[in-house]
Amino acid sequence: MPTLQLTEVAELKDQSFSSTDLPDFTASAYKDAYSRINAIVIEGEQEAHDNYMAIGTLIPGQAEELKKLARMELKHMRGFTACGKNLGVAPDMVFAKEFFSSLHGNFQKALAAGKLTTCFLIQAILIEAFAISAYNVYIRVADPFAKKITEGVVQDEYLHLNYGQEWLKSNLDSCKDELFKANKENLPLIKSMLDQVASDASELHMDKEELMEEFMIAYQDSLTEIGLTNREMARMASAAVV
Ligand SMILES: [Fe+2]
Ligand SMILES: [Fe+2]
Repeated sequence: MPTLQLTEVAELKDQSFSSTDLPDFTASAYKDAYSRINAIVIEGEQEAHDNYMAIGTLIPGQAEELKKLARMELKHMRGFTACGKNLGVAPDMVFAKEFFSSLHGNFQKALAAGKLTTCFLIQAILIEAFAISAYNVYIRVADPFAKKITEGVVQDEYLHLNYGQEWLKSNLDSCKDELFKANKENLPLIKSMLDQVASDASELHMDKEELMEEFMIAYQDSLTEIGLTNREMARMASAAVV
């Protein structure tokens, strides 16, 4: 009996998913939710740009490399701005600024205190893992224009996550205590941001459970790469359960 190759199975799954599960991109409920989700993404990319530039001021030796990452974030921002325009949606930037305000405030506090570990954790681990999870889920249900743009962006975000994890890995001995503390303060914010966005995300056919799963995969993979033990990782991840 002929058997299906893995790639064929993947293609079949892809086809059945896209034919049955794509939202109506022209519906007013879709556009309304998109005005907030799109704004969050645009604001997130702007924050990421500003954060990498700011981290560069704390490590002048890496400033050029960080500038490169920052420039990629601005390119992402322009791409997602085009996605909103393509659907005829105006992003609700006031909502998005408020959405990021707690995390933004914590990053600024850490920056002012020269706490590089906290800055890296917030931007290069938590925000990047959050972006990766959202983009991976979105790609499955996006309109063709946005899908193409998001596929390009998500590859860059893995590079950024990797950059942060490499820095934390090579400074692990001196940064572990601050890493735990910063994680305890900021991981719950990611969880509550996900809760806040859940109903709009579901309008875009993005499932909350799936978003959380994708986030935990990216987050835990990076903690493994940083070199934490299973017990330390469990301690980190359990900060989300509050
Ligand atoms: Fe980005
Ligand atoms: Fe990024």
